[in-house]
Amino acid sequence: GAAPPATLVIFGATGDLTRRLLVPALANLVRDRLVRDDRFAILGISFEEGDDETLRAHLAEFCTDCGDAFERLKPHIHYLKGDFLDGATYEAVGAKLEEIGFGNAGFYLAVAPNFFGEIAERLAAAGLLEEREDAFRRLLVEKPFGHDLASARALNVRLLAVLDETQIYRIDHFLGKETVQNIMTTRFANNLLEAVWNHRYVDHVQITAAEIVGVEKRGKYYDATGAMRDMVPNHLFQLLAAIGMEPPNSFDAEAVRTEKAKVVEAIRRVKAEEVDKVSARGRYDAGRIGETEVAAYRDEPNVAPDGSTETYVAMKLFVDNWRWAGVPFYLRTGKRLTARDTEIVVAFKPAPYAMFQETDAVRLPPNTMTMQIQPNEGVSMQLSAKKPGPRIAIVPVDLDFSYADHFKVGRSTGYETLLYDMLIGDQTLFQRADMIESGWAAVQPFLDHWASGGGVETYPAGSAGPAGADRLIRDDGREWHAIG
Ligand code: BG6
Repeated sequence: GAAPPATLVIFGATGDLTRRLLVPALANLVRDRLVRDDRFAILGISFEEGDDETLRAHLAEFCTDCGDAFERLKPHIHYLKGDFLDGATYEAVGAKLEEIGFGNAGFYLAVAPNFFGEIAERLAAAGLLEEREDAFRRLLVEKPFGHDLASARALNVRLLAVLDETQIYRIDHFLGKETVQNIMTTRFANNLLEAVWNHRYVDHVQITAAEIVGVEKRGKYYDATGAMRDMVPNHLFQLLAAIGMEPPNSFDAEAVRTEKAKVVEAIRRVKAEEVDKVSARGRYDAGRIGETEVAAYRDEPNVAPDGSTETYVAMKLFVDNWRWAGVPFYLRTGKRLTARDTEIVVAFKPAPYAMFQETDAVRLPPNTMTMQIQPNEGVSMQLSAKKPGPRIAIVPVDLDFSYADHFKVGRSTGYETLLYDMLIGDQTLFQRADMIESGWAAVQPFLDHWASGGGVETYPAGSAGPAGADRLIRDDGREWHAIG
């Protein structure tokens, strides 16, 4: 059903996230009647000059596909020019919320992370985070949530001093993806899989997030961040958690989040002297994407020409628990690679005995299950089959499920579910404090080791990544699943 009446207060209303994702997502929710335009308002805040009309016009420019839904939302979009560090801004927010008249409010921090703690404290000081029976008060926090373990902990302490955990919605936009939500369903709605989903049958797991894009206009943020911080403790660990978690007692938010947190908590802490053995870092050099020549990372705007920030990272991790004992999880992510490809491959152990000795196929191809997160969303399973003919020849074949074939899915930004869930108070798809901290704790030894030096290989833009990543998996007698 439709979400309860509420105002979404967006700090950073003129920024990229608001116009590209948040407002189109809200328009889609209005289109699908999950948000009623007459019971919803947006209050945008930013330091730029402007009024309701300028914000509406600005957002309309980017909501080109939103059609009628945006028109219906439009009169309920309000603007407040204000400094995030000025008490007067918060008084004005309070007054505006009173005027709009819905008790419920979500405060969305679509701003630089150094403002997160500050805005929360100022909202609290103005009394805006106090909940009443008929008025929820919730805070949505975008990534990055901390820069390392210590800063993530400090931010949690700051937020939890003024808010209850039930009021905090830490966003990981990967959890808004249908295909990511489907991992849990695929695992727990299909008894067939559960029987083999463990160290007895799984040889290893590969988690890949390959991108074609470079750092684009985000050099300043990215150069201080790198591929590890940008993608691993958040997005890739969410995928790892969904693949590795135990079945929760229910689909209740706390039950699900507890099981996910346990998996991340079980990731083995790597020792400093092992970091180089179990990881590889790379930085893209100039190269070609299709026909287009693209620049080296170090020549991108706002990137230090002599820095050691990685744009690619690969690593081997272990999850030390009963289910996954001894099963390597290989993770990799990078920019400027051959293709856009986010996927999880679960590679099974070969059949215990090959009775086809006299045939051509002495080596049986192992079964794998591939969950394609994007693009060409789907799930496929690779099995071995007999090639037709008088002799026994064994070849790999695919069982394929593709979203596009099965479902007519409407346009979506990935933020619809997240915003709707916040409005109805469902925290399942948001990161809990403990999981964020366990994620950082697992990558901290790598960050520490790299801070004191350590090499970054180069790879040509448009390639499959640095040679070290291949070595990492080949030394174990395995191969990466081809990107793309
Ligand atoms: C963001 C990272 O969180 O995720 C980006 O900051 C990255 O660097 C992006 O490109 C990838 O998300 P998606 O949804 O495009 O796979």
